[in-house]
Amino acid sequence: MLQTILFATPLRRLVLGGLLMAGLGVLNSRYDVTALAHAQAVPIATDKGLKDYYKAYFPIGVAIGPSSLKGPEASLIIQQFNSLTPENAMKMGPIHPEENRYFWDDADQIVNFSQVHALRVRGHNLCWHEQTPKWLFKNADGSVVSKGVLLRRLHDHIDTVVKRYKGKIYAWDVVNEAIADDSTQFLRNSDWYKICGEDFIAKAFEYAHAADPKAVLFYNDYNTERPEKRERVYRLLKKLRDAKVPIDAVGLQAHWSLQEPTQKELRATIERFASLGLKVQITELDVSIYPWEKSRREKRPGEADAYTPTMEQQQAEKYRMVFNTFRDYKNVLTGVTFWNISDRYTWLDTYPVAGRKNYPLLFDQQLKPKKAFYEVVKF
Ligand code: GLA
Repeated sequence: MLQTILFATPLRRLVLGGLLMAGLGVLNSRYDVTALAHAQAVPIATDKGLKDYYKAYFPIGVAIGPSSLKGPEASLIIQQFNSLTPENAMKMGPIHPEENRYFWDDADQIVNFSQVHALRVRGHNLCWHEQTPKWLFKNADGSVVSKGVLLRRLHDHIDTVVKRYKGKIYAWDVVNEAIADDSTQFLRNSDWYKICGEDFIAKAFEYAHAADPKAVLFYNDYNTERPEKRERVYRLLKKLRDAKVPIDAVGLQAHWSLQEPTQKELRATIERFASLGLKVQITELDVSIYPWEKSRREKRPGEADAYTPTMEQQQAEKYRMVFNTFRDYKNVLTGVTFWNISDRYTWLDTYPVAGRKNYPLLFDQQLKPKKAFYEVVKF
Protein backbone atom coordinates (compact mmCIF):
# COMPACT_ATOMS: atom_id res chain seq x y z
CA MET A 1 0.00 0.00 0.00
CA LEU A 2 2.75 2.42 0.97
CA GLN A 3 4.58 1.52 -2.19
CA THR A 4 1.45 2.04 -4.24
CA ILE A 5 1.12 5.54 -2.86
CA LEU A 6 4.75 6.50 -3.08
CA PHE A 7 5.40 5.02 -6.48
CA ALA A 8 2.25 6.32 -8.07
CA THR A 9 4.01 8.27 -10.82
CA PRO A 10 7.21 7.65 -12.79
CA LEU A 11 8.65 10.95 -11.51
CA ARG A 12 8.10 9.93 -7.94
CA ARG A 13 9.50 6.50 -8.60
CA LEU A 14 12.77 8.11 -9.63
CA VAL A 15 13.05 10.56 -6.78
CA LEU A 16 11.69 8.34 -4.07
CA GLY A 17 13.55 5.15 -4.77
CA GLY A 18 16.63 6.41 -2.96
CA LEU A 19 14.68 8.07 -0.19
CA LEU A 20 12.72 4.95 0.56
CA MET A 21 15.84 2.83 0.71
CA ALA A 22 17.39 5.32 3.09
CA GLY A 23 14.28 5.29 5.21
CA LEU A 24 13.77 1.56 5.59
CA GLY A 25 15.16 1.70 9.08
CA VAL A 26 12.43 4.13 10.02
CA LEU A 27 9.67 2.12 8.42
CA ASN A 28 10.79 -1.11 10.03
CA SER A 29 11.08 0.54 13.39
CA ARG A 30 7.32 0.81 13.51
CA TYR A 31 7.20 -2.91 14.18
CA ASP A 32 9.67 -2.97 17.02
CA VAL A 33 8.66 -4.47 20.32
CA THR A 34 8.74 -1.26 22.34
CA ALA A 35 6.51 0.51 19.89
CA LEU A 36 4.04 -2.34 19.82
CA ALA A 37 3.96 -2.47 23.61
CA HIS A 38 2.56 1.07 23.58
CA ALA A 39 0.17 0.35 20.78
CA GLN A 40 -2.23 -1.81 22.75
CA ALA A 41 -5.54 -1.86 20.91
CA VAL A 42 -4.26 0.17 18.00
CA PRO A 43 -2.81 -1.88 15.20
CA ILE A 44 -0.41 0.41 13.36
CA ALA A 45 0.04 -0.58 9.76
CA THR A 46 3.10 0.59 7.85
CA ASP A 47 0.88 2.11 5.22
CA LYS A 48 -0.68 4.61 7.63
CA GLY A 49 0.88 7.82 8.82
CA LEU A 50 -0.59 10.66 10.88
CA LYS A 51 -1.89 12.25 7.67
CA ASP A 52 -3.80 9.06 6.84
CA TYR A 53 -5.40 8.75 10.26
CA TYR A 54 -6.46 12.38 9.98
CA LYS A 55 -7.51 12.30 6.35
CA ALA A 56 -11.16 13.01 7.17
CA TYR A 57 -10.18 15.81 9.53
CA PHE A 58 -7.33 18.12 8.48
CA PRO A 59 -3.83 18.05 6.97
CA ILE A 60 -0.99 17.24 9.36
CA GLY A 61 2.12 19.30 8.82
CA VAL A 62 5.66 19.70 10.08
CA ALA A 63 8.18 22.54 10.21
CA ILE A 64 11.50 21.71 8.61
CA GLY A 65 14.72 23.03 7.17
CA PRO A 66 16.39 21.88 3.93
CA SER A 67 18.66 19.41 5.77
CA SER A 68 15.61 17.21 6.48
CA LEU A 69 14.88 16.71 2.79
CA LYS A 70 17.10 13.65 2.52
CA GLY A 71 17.68 10.37 4.37
CA PRO A 72 15.48 8.95 7.13
CA GLU A 73 13.91 12.30 8.03
CA ALA A 74 12.69 12.77 4.47
CA SER A 75 11.17 9.28 4.54
CA LEU A 76 9.43 10.05 7.80
CA ILE A 77 8.08 13.31 6.38
CA ILE A 78 6.63 11.52 3.36
CA GLN A 79 5.20 8.73 5.45
CA GLN A 80 3.58 10.86 8.15
CA PHE A 81 2.83 14.38 6.92
CA ASN A 82 1.05 16.10 4.06
CA SER A 83 1.98 19.70 4.77
CA LEU A 84 5.28 21.53 5.29
CA THR A 85 6.23 24.81 6.89
CA PRO A 86 9.76 26.15 6.36
CA GLU A 87 11.06 26.55 9.90
CA ASN A 88 13.34 29.49 9.07
CA ALA A 89 13.94 29.62 5.32
CA MET A 90 11.20 32.13 4.49
CA LYS A 91 11.66 34.48 7.40
CA MET A 92 12.65 37.95 6.29
CA GLY A 93 16.24 37.81 7.60
CA PRO A 94 17.22 34.55 5.88
CA ILE A 95 15.31 35.11 2.62
CA HIS A 96 15.98 38.83 2.12
CA PRO A 97 19.44 39.48 3.60
CA GLU A 98 20.09 42.72 1.70
CA GLU A 99 17.67 45.23 0.29
CA ASN A 100 18.45 44.26 -3.28
CA ARG A 101 19.30 40.61 -2.72
CA TYR A 102 17.13 37.63 -1.95
CA PHE A 103 18.42 34.20 -0.94
CA TRP A 104 16.04 31.66 -2.40
CA ASP A 105 17.94 28.37 -2.25
CA ASP A 106 16.64 26.96 1.03
CA ALA A 107 13.05 28.03 0.46
CA ASP A 108 13.11 26.76 -3.14
CA GLN A 109 14.37 23.35 -2.02
CA ILE A 110 11.48 23.00 0.39
CA VAL A 111 8.91 24.12 -2.16
CA ASN A 112 10.37 21.83 -4.84
CA PHE A 113 10.28 18.85 -2.47
CA SER A 114 6.68 19.62 -1.65
CA GLN A 115 5.79 19.74 -5.33
CA VAL A 116 7.43 16.40 -6.06
CA HIS A 117 5.71 14.74 -3.11
CA ALA A 118 2.37 16.55 -3.41
CA LEU A 119 2.60 18.20 0.02
CA ARG A 120 0.96 21.50 0.91
CA VAL A 121 3.14 24.39 2.00
CA ARG A 122 2.35 27.07 4.58
CA GLY A 123 4.50 30.15 4.08
CA HIS A 124 6.07 31.43 7.30
CA ASN A 125 6.26 34.38 7.70
CA LEU A 126 6.01 37.80 6.04
CA CYS A 127 6.17 40.30 8.90
CA TRP A 128 7.68 39.63 12.32
CA HIS A 129 9.76 41.57 14.85
CA GLU A 130 12.38 38.78 15.10
CA GLN A 131 14.82 37.41 12.51
CA THR A 132 14.61 40.64 10.54
CA PRO A 133 17.47 41.64 8.21
CA LYS A 134 19.90 44.31 9.46
CA TRP A 135 19.11 46.79 6.69
CA LEU A 136 15.34 46.82 7.22
CA PHE A 137 14.77 49.63 9.70
CA LYS A 138 17.77 51.79 8.71
CA ASN A 139 18.62 54.29 6.00
CA ALA A 140 22.03 54.13 4.32
CA ASP A 141 23.33 56.77 6.77
CA GLY A 142 22.26 54.66 9.75
CA SER A 143 19.25 56.78 10.71
CA VAL A 144 15.86 55.20 11.30
CA VAL A 145 13.65 54.95 8.21
CA SER A 146 10.39 56.84 7.88
CA LYS A 147 7.01 55.13 7.91
CA GLY A 148 6.71 55.66 4.15
CA VAL A 149 10.04 53.98 3.45
CA LEU A 150 9.33 51.07 5.78
CA LEU A 151 5.90 50.38 4.28
CA ARG A 152 7.41 50.50 0.80
CA ARG A 153 10.05 47.97 1.89
CA LEU A 154 7.36 45.78 3.42
CA HIS A 155 5.39 45.98 0.20
CA ASP A 156 8.36 45.09 -1.99
CA HIS A 157 9.27 42.17 0.25
CA ILE A 158 5.79 40.69 0.44
CA ASP A 159 5.08 41.24 -3.24
CA THR A 160 8.31 39.55 -4.33
CA VAL A 161 8.16 36.55 -1.98
CA VAL A 162 4.45 35.82 -2.33
CA LYS A 163 4.50 36.12 -6.13
CA ARG A 164 7.50 33.81 -6.44
CA TYR A 165 5.56 30.98 -4.79
CA LYS A 166 2.09 31.83 -6.05
CA GLY A 167 0.12 28.64 -6.68
CA LYS A 168 2.65 26.59 -4.71
CA ILE A 169 2.08 28.03 -1.25
CA TYR A 170 -1.55 27.88 -0.22
CA ALA A 171 -1.37 29.87 3.03
CA TRP A 172 0.81 32.57 4.57
CA ASP A 173 1.47 33.64 8.14
CA VAL A 174 1.31 37.30 7.21
CA VAL A 175 1.84 38.92 10.60
CA ASN A 176 3.47 37.02 13.46
CA GLU A 177 3.25 37.92 17.15
CA ALA A 178 2.11 41.55 17.03
CA ILE A 179 0.51 41.40 20.49
CA ALA A 180 2.65 42.57 23.44
CA ASP A 181 3.98 40.13 26.04
CA ASP A 182 3.07 42.62 28.75
CA SER A 183 -0.59 41.95 29.48
CA THR A 184 -1.24 45.61 30.29
CA GLN A 185 -0.26 46.59 26.73
CA PHE A 186 -2.08 45.88 23.46
CA LEU A 187 0.37 45.81 20.55
CA ARG A 188 4.06 44.90 20.89
CA ASN A 189 6.35 47.92 20.91
CA SER A 190 8.43 46.54 18.03
CA ASP A 191 10.35 48.54 15.43
CA TRP A 192 7.43 47.93 13.08
CA TYR A 193 5.08 49.52 15.60
CA LYS A 194 7.41 52.33 16.63
CA ILE A 195 7.87 53.42 13.03
CA CYS A 196 4.45 52.68 11.49
CA GLY A 197 1.99 52.57 14.38
CA GLU A 198 -0.53 49.78 13.95
CA ASP A 199 -0.96 50.38 10.20
CA PHE A 200 1.75 47.89 9.29
CA ILE A 201 -0.57 45.03 10.23
CA ALA A 202 -3.41 45.87 7.85
CA LYS A 203 -0.93 46.87 5.14
CA ALA A 204 0.87 43.53 5.34
CA PHE A 205 -2.42 41.70 4.74
CA GLU A 206 -3.35 44.02 1.88
CA TYR A 207 0.01 43.54 0.17
CA ALA A 208 -0.18 39.75 0.54
CA HIS A 209 -3.72 39.62 -0.79
CA ALA A 210 -2.80 41.76 -3.79
CA ALA A 211 0.18 39.51 -4.57
CA ASP A 212 -1.84 36.28 -4.40
CA PRO A 213 -5.60 36.73 -4.01
CA LYS A 214 -6.07 32.98 -3.54
CA ALA A 215 -3.65 32.57 -0.63
CA VAL A 216 -5.22 31.97 2.79
CA LEU A 217 -3.92 34.73 5.03
CA PHE A 218 -3.16 34.20 8.73
CA TYR A 219 -2.42 36.16 11.85
CA ASN A 220 -0.21 33.87 14.00
CA ASP A 221 0.60 34.09 17.72
CA TYR A 222 1.49 32.15 20.90
CA ASN A 223 -0.10 31.72 24.34
CA THR A 224 -3.43 32.32 22.63
CA GLU A 225 -5.16 29.95 25.08
CA ARG A 226 -4.34 32.13 28.07
CA PRO A 227 -7.53 34.14 28.63
CA GLU A 228 -5.88 37.56 28.86
CA LYS A 229 -3.77 37.07 25.74
CA ARG A 230 -6.68 35.47 23.91
CA GLU A 231 -8.78 38.59 24.47
CA ARG A 232 -6.06 40.91 23.19
CA VAL A 233 -5.62 38.75 20.07
CA TYR A 234 -9.41 38.74 19.66
CA ARG A 235 -9.47 42.52 19.87
CA LEU A 236 -6.90 42.79 17.08
CA LEU A 237 -8.64 40.23 14.87
CA LYS A 238 -12.01 41.89 15.35
CA LYS A 239 -10.55 45.25 14.45
CA LEU A 240 -9.09 43.79 11.26
CA ARG A 241 -12.35 42.06 10.35
CA ASP A 242 -14.40 45.19 11.02
CA ALA A 243 -12.05 47.19 8.80
CA LYS A 244 -12.48 44.57 6.02
CA VAL A 245 -8.78 43.74 6.02
CA PRO A 246 -8.23 40.56 3.95
CA ILE A 247 -7.53 38.15 6.80
CA ASP A 248 -8.89 34.59 6.59
CA ALA A 249 -7.58 32.72 9.56
CA VAL A 250 -5.72 32.67 12.84
CA GLY A 251 -2.78 30.45 13.71
CA LEU A 252 -2.49 29.17 17.26
CA GLN A 253 1.21 28.43 17.52
CA ALA A 254 0.55 25.86 20.25
CA HIS A 255 3.96 25.90 21.92
CA TRP A 256 2.42 24.07 24.84
CA SER A 257 3.68 22.11 27.83
CA LEU A 258 2.67 19.38 30.27
CA GLN A 259 1.03 22.17 32.29
CA GLU A 260 -1.04 23.96 29.66
CA PRO A 261 -3.47 24.52 28.06
CA THR A 262 -6.52 22.96 29.68
CA GLN A 263 -9.21 21.57 27.42
CA LYS A 264 -11.53 24.34 28.54
CA GLU A 265 -9.01 27.00 27.53
CA LEU A 266 -8.41 25.35 24.18
CA ARG A 267 -12.12 25.07 23.38
CA ALA A 268 -12.77 28.65 24.45
CA THR A 269 -9.96 29.90 22.20
CA ILE A 270 -11.05 28.05 19.08
CA GLU A 271 -14.67 29.08 19.58
CA ARG A 272 -13.82 32.71 20.31
CA PHE A 273 -11.80 33.15 17.13
CA ALA A 274 -14.18 31.09 15.01
CA SER A 275 -16.98 33.42 16.11
CA LEU A 276 -15.33 36.09 13.97
CA GLY A 277 -15.79 33.91 10.89
CA LEU A 278 -12.09 33.01 10.83
CA LYS A 279 -10.65 29.56 10.20
CA VAL A 280 -8.19 28.31 12.79
CA GLN A 281 -4.98 26.31 12.42
CA ILE A 282 -2.57 24.84 14.92
CA THR A 283 0.64 26.09 13.37
CA GLU A 284 3.63 25.24 15.61
CA LEU A 285 2.62 22.39 17.90
CA ASP A 286 4.93 20.93 20.50
CA VAL A 287 4.41 19.88 24.13
CA SER A 288 7.44 20.88 26.22
CA ILE A 289 8.30 18.82 29.27
CA TYR A 290 9.07 22.08 31.13
CA PRO A 291 6.70 24.87 32.12
CA TRP A 292 6.65 27.89 29.76
CA GLU A 293 9.38 30.44 30.56
CA LYS A 294 10.59 33.26 28.41
CA SER A 295 13.28 35.13 30.27
CA ARG A 296 15.57 32.45 31.75
CA ARG A 297 18.61 31.61 29.63
CA GLU A 298 20.89 29.61 31.96
CA LYS A 299 20.52 26.06 33.22
CA ARG A 300 20.25 25.97 37.01
CA PRO A 301 23.16 24.17 38.71
CA GLY A 302 22.33 20.46 38.81
CA GLU A 303 19.10 20.94 36.89
CA ALA A 304 18.05 17.59 35.44
CA ASP A 305 16.86 17.28 31.87
CA ALA A 306 15.76 13.67 32.04
CA TYR A 307 12.65 12.54 30.21
CA THR A 308 11.02 10.49 32.97
CA PRO A 309 8.30 7.85 32.45
CA THR A 310 5.92 10.14 34.34
CA MET A 311 6.61 12.98 31.92
CA GLU A 312 6.19 10.65 28.98
CA GLN A 313 2.82 9.54 30.33
CA GLN A 314 1.66 13.11 31.08
CA GLN A 315 2.73 14.18 27.63
CA ALA A 316 0.83 11.32 25.98
CA GLU A 317 -2.27 12.37 27.91
CA LYS A 318 -1.86 16.01 26.91
CA TYR A 319 -1.50 15.00 23.27
CA ARG A 320 -4.57 12.75 23.54
CA MET A 321 -6.63 15.58 24.99
CA VAL A 322 -5.58 18.17 22.43
CA PHE A 323 -6.15 15.91 19.43
CA ASN A 324 -9.53 14.78 20.79
CA THR A 325 -10.41 18.45 20.97
CA PHE A 326 -9.04 19.22 17.51
CA ARG A 327 -11.23 16.51 16.02
CA ASP A 328 -14.30 18.08 17.63
CA TYR A 329 -13.58 21.27 15.67
CA LYS A 330 -12.85 19.80 12.26
CA ASN A 331 -15.19 22.29 10.60
CA VAL A 332 -13.13 25.21 11.83
CA LEU A 333 -9.64 23.70 12.09
CA THR A 334 -7.99 23.53 8.70
CA GLY A 335 -4.61 22.13 9.70
CA VAL A 336 -2.33 20.97 12.49
CA THR A 337 1.42 21.48 12.10
CA PHE A 338 4.17 20.22 14.42
CA TRP A 339 7.16 22.43 15.06
CA ASN A 340 10.00 20.04 14.06
CA ILE A 341 9.97 16.37 13.17
CA SER A 342 11.28 14.48 16.18
CA ASP A 343 13.01 14.79 19.56
CA ARG A 344 16.31 14.39 17.70
CA TYR A 345 16.14 18.15 17.08
CA THR A 346 13.79 20.71 18.54
CA TRP A 347 14.18 24.47 18.93
CA LEU A 348 13.33 23.84 22.61
CA ASP A 349 16.78 22.23 23.14
CA THR A 350 18.16 25.75 23.13
CA TYR A 351 15.16 27.91 23.99
CA PRO A 352 14.72 29.38 26.49
CA VAL A 353 17.58 27.53 28.22
CA ALA A 354 20.58 26.57 26.09
CA GLY A 355 21.76 22.98 26.54
CA ARG A 356 18.65 21.70 28.29
CA LYS A 357 17.32 18.80 26.26
CA ASN A 358 13.60 18.70 25.54
CA TYR A 359 11.35 15.94 24.18
CA PRO A 360 8.25 17.70 22.87
CA LEU A 361 7.27 15.74 19.74
CA LEU A 362 5.61 12.49 18.66
CA PHE A 363 8.78 10.80 17.39
CA ASP A 364 11.83 10.02 19.53
CA GLN A 365 15.51 10.62 18.81
CA GLN A 366 15.62 7.43 16.72
CA LEU A 367 12.57 8.71 14.80
CA LYS A 368 10.37 6.02 16.35
CA PRO A 369 6.80 6.79 17.38
CA LYS A 370 6.43 7.61 21.08
CA LYS A 371 3.63 6.81 23.49
CA ALA A 372 2.05 10.13 22.56
CA PHE A 373 1.93 9.09 18.89
CA TYR A 374 -0.26 6.11 19.72
CA GLU A 375 -2.61 8.29 21.72
CA VAL A 376 -2.97 10.69 18.82
CA VAL A 377 -3.97 7.96 16.36
CA LYS A 378 -6.29 6.12 18.79
CA PHE A 379 -9.86 7.12 17.93
C1 GLA B 1 7.91 31.45 16.99
C2 GLA B 1 7.96 31.65 15.49
C3 GLA B 1 8.56 30.46 14.80
C4 GLA B 1 9.76 29.93 15.52
C5 GLA B 1 9.40 29.64 16.93
C6 GLA B 1 10.56 29.05 17.65
O1 GLA B 1 6.88 30.66 17.40
O2 GLA B 1 6.73 31.89 14.91
O3 GLA B 1 8.96 30.83 13.53
O4 GLA B 1 10.81 30.84 15.45
O5 GLA B 1 9.04 30.85 17.52
O6 GLA B 1 11.42 28.35 16.86
